[in-house]
Amino acid sequence: MAPSILSADFAELAAEVARVRAEADLLHIDVMDGHFVPNLTIGPPVVEALRRRTDLFLDTHLMVDNPGDLLDAFAKAGSDRCIVHVELGDPRPLIRRMRDLGLGVGLVCNPGTPLDAVVEHLGEIDLLLVMSVHPGWGGQAFLPEVLDKVRDARRIIDEQGLAVEIEVDGGIGPATARAVAEAGADILVAGSAIFSAEDPAAAARRIREAAWPSS
Ligand code: DX5
Ligand code: ZN
Repeated sequence: MAPSILSADFAELAAEVARVRAEADLLHIDVMDGHFVPNLTIGPPVVEALRRRTDLFLDTHLMVDNPGDLLDAFAKAGSDRCIVHVELGDPRPLIRRMRDLGLGVGLVCNPGTPLDAVVEHLGEIDLLLVMSVHPGWGGQAFLPEVLDKVRDARRIIDEQGLAVEIEVDGGIGPATARAVAEAGADILVAGSAIFSAEDPAAAARRIREAAWPSS
């Protein structure tokens, strides 16, 4: 489970992270630059502040036009992994830079981007993030047509014997989690379904139990 702090109270970030800590395996941080997507959110100083307050793995989703300009700063701030969008063009220089910086390497594709765009890079990455909403905002409805993409990604990764994890992001809650897990996701991101709840940890637990009932 990867709670997305996009839907947390930004004036209370450390407290919000503490509220969800018991049910979080990593923390998903949505970085938006006002260009790649219209919204403007979090930068390296906030990651640095979070790093001082939590030992959670900081998974940093870069919805920005020029991720190459920011990788050093996020690595220095304490991100554990950065995730870059394949829509920006050839990701190989970014992948190399992330490796050089000691960051985990993630590649993400939007709902309208075919899996073909990422397949040739699967051998070089740690994580494939499949967007199940159009990036930019929390609280949007899950797009069920991405389930086929998750299934295809699972099959290709398994056929090739790769250790790439599949993460799915957008519109995930108790009602959608099972289908996403069944399609082959390893990690579920959820923002509004967790942080709009009275008890965020209980909400995260409900999503986990819906996704993986036997675990
Ligand atoms: C959307 C972000 C998501 C967002 C998900 O652009 O990448 O991580 O926080 O929010 P929910 O879970 O509310 O759809
Ligand atoms: Zn995200």
